[in-house]
This record gives sequence, structure tokens and C-alpha cells, in this order.
Amino acid sequence: MTNRIAFITGISGQDGSYLTEYLLKNNYEVHGIVRRNSVAEHQESRIDHLAPYINIYYSDMLDSNSLRNTIDKVSPTEIYNLAAQSHVRISSEIPEFTTQINAIGPLRILEIIKSLRGDVKFYQASSSEMFGKSVDSDNYQRESTKMIPVSPYGCAKLFGYNITRHYREAYNLFAANGILFNHESPRRASNFVTSKIIKTAVQIKLKQASKLTLGNLDSQRDWGHSRDYVKAMVKILEHDVPDDWVVATGQTRSIRQLLELVFSRLDLNYQDYVIQDPKFMRPEELQYLRGDATKIKTELGWKPETTFEDMIDEMLEFWLSNLRKI
Ligand code: GDD
Repeated sequence: MTNRIAFITGISGQDGSYLTEYLLKNNYEVHGIVRRNSVAEHQESRIDHLAPYINIYYSDMLDSNSLRNTIDKVSPTEIYNLAAQSHVRISSEIPEFTTQINAIGPLRILEIIKSLRGDVKFYQASSSEMFGKSVDSDNYQRESTKMIPVSPYGCAKLFGYNITRHYREAYNLFAANGILFNHESPRRASNFVTSKIIKTAVQIKLKQASKLTLGNLDSQRDWGHSRDYVKAMVKILEHDVPDDWVVATGQTRSIRQLLELVFSRLDLNYQDYVIQDPKFMRPEELQYLRGDATKIKTELGWKPETTFEDMIDEMLEFWLSNLRKI
């Protein structure tokens, strides 16, 4: 087999770090870009343990020349575009920046690929947030479901999704979309709801906090494990035909159900600690997500391996061992 050279934007994020581990295990050469950050000692912590085995460059999704120069230097066989302003609520506070990164970012990379000679496979990290308020009559979202996004994040991701499809059709590029539903892990940043709830519940248990302040408790999400979902990304690019794929568990739970599980694991009652603050509400909320991953299961043989309960326990263990040290 020819040498497989992966180029990953967003390599220092949750998915970038799991993807890198998986690709290295499968003998890929791995390159990635990180943004210059004034707290450089923290920015790469998710990939510090991988540093001897990968190549990291400074670049930025806002800087076309830098992206082009870095891609030229690396000559990748495949590009995973995972870089994003990935927080949905915050996207309403910085909508232009979110659109630059999440919409124009993939366009910049597609333009570079279009101008290159030779085949470079392209993976676009599309999102279930693109579905917004739309759901099929059987209460699932799938590849054919209409997309009506309800946040600047979702609108920008929908552009990224469409431009990827368009470049595939118009210029015959190998450009594929993974439409990933929510996916979590101990590496999830603590301003996303799973990590926020688990981290604060552990702090309450250890008497380091007394309250947990949240926004909407009634929305429902389909939560899987990031470690499982990056394997779907690789399968999507290994397939002979570029296409669009939903990656999900098919199960949905409310924030209240998540709270019940997490607090009960710690022998606590969430109702004694949770308060709501409008600060964490969204201008328009995506109420319900449940993905039908039949296509990727049947055509590519992917399936989620970690149960929801096991993922929550893994995250609880991580935060317990981390916060006990304080
Ligand atoms: N973050 C956060 N913080 N969410 C809260 C809070 C809170 O204090 N209180 C309630 N929620 C609710 C949100 O309103 C939302 O309905 C749900 O918890 C999940 O929020 P997040 O964990 O922030 O994830 P998300 O669904 O908005 O977005 C994630 O999933 C997308 C895929 O559907 C992100 O990973 C996106 O980048 C990803 O594309």
C-alpha cells in the first residue's frame, strides 16, 4: 500500500487527538496545524503525548497562503478538516468569526485541493447542528432530512457541507462529509454540557463547588464517544466513493436524564444543586437530535462501540482522578 499521509486541521482538539492516535496505529504519517496562542504551554495538551510521532505546523484557517504553503510542504494523501469554532452558543456572540472559520475555512482548503495535481481525499467535519429544527416523521434525522439550522454555527456548517458536495460534483474531487452527532470523551472541553455537568458534579462531591448553573434542561441529544466517531471518519475516506454520512448512536436523552445519571453515580440528587441562568440559554435552541446511522452501518460496517453509560463512567473517572489532586 502506498504511504498514507494525513493532514489534520484542528489536530489539538478532542477529535484531532483521537484521530491522530488511530491513524498512527494504522501506520499513517500524521501532520497537523495549530493556531498561535498566547498560552502555548496549554494549547497542545491533548496531543503532547503524541508529539514525537507527528509533525505540527503553525497555521490558521483564516490564512489562505499559510494553509497553501503548509499543504504544499506536506503533500498529503488526505485532509481532515476538523478545525472549527465549535461552540454553538458562543457562535451567536461571534457570528462573523464563526462563519470565517467554519464556512470559508473548508472553502479555502477545497480551493487548494482543486488547484493541486493528483488526488487528495478531503473529509469535512459536518454536524448534526445543521438539521436545526428539522426531523423526519419517524423522529430520526438522516442524510435525506431537510436542514434548517438554528444558530450561526449551524448555518456556517451548512455552507461547509454544501460547498464540499458542490466541489465534489463540479470538479470531481474526493470530498466527503461526515455528519456527526454530539460526541464526547474525557478530552471534551468543560464548556460543553457533558463535561460541564460531570466536572461540576465531581467538584460538588469533593466539596469544591456547591451549585451547577445550566441553561435549557429539556433539549435532547444523541451522544456517542469521540474515540468511536474518528474511526468513522477514516472509513469515510477509505471508501472508494466520496459521499455524505450520518454518524450517530440512534439513542436520545435529555439534559435532565444526563443529570440524573451523573449525579446518581455520585450518590447525589441533581435537584439539590442545579440552578438555571438565562446566560446559558440560546437565542434559538435545537430541541431534539436522534440520528439514523443505517447507511454507514450497512455500507461501511461502522458502528458505535462504547455505550452511553460506559462513556459517562470514563468521564467521571477522569474528572475524579484529576480533581482529587487539587
Ligand atoms: N454548553 C452548554 N452549557 N450547554 C448547555 C448548558 C450549559 O450550561 N445548559 C444546557 N445546555 C444544553 C444546550 O442548550 C444544548 O441543548 C445541549 O445542552 C448540548 O449543548 P453542547 O454540549 O454545548 O453541545 P451542542 O449540541 O450545542 O453542540 C455540540 O454538538 C454538535 C453536533 O450536534 C458541539 O460539539 C458542536 O460542535 C457539534 O457540531
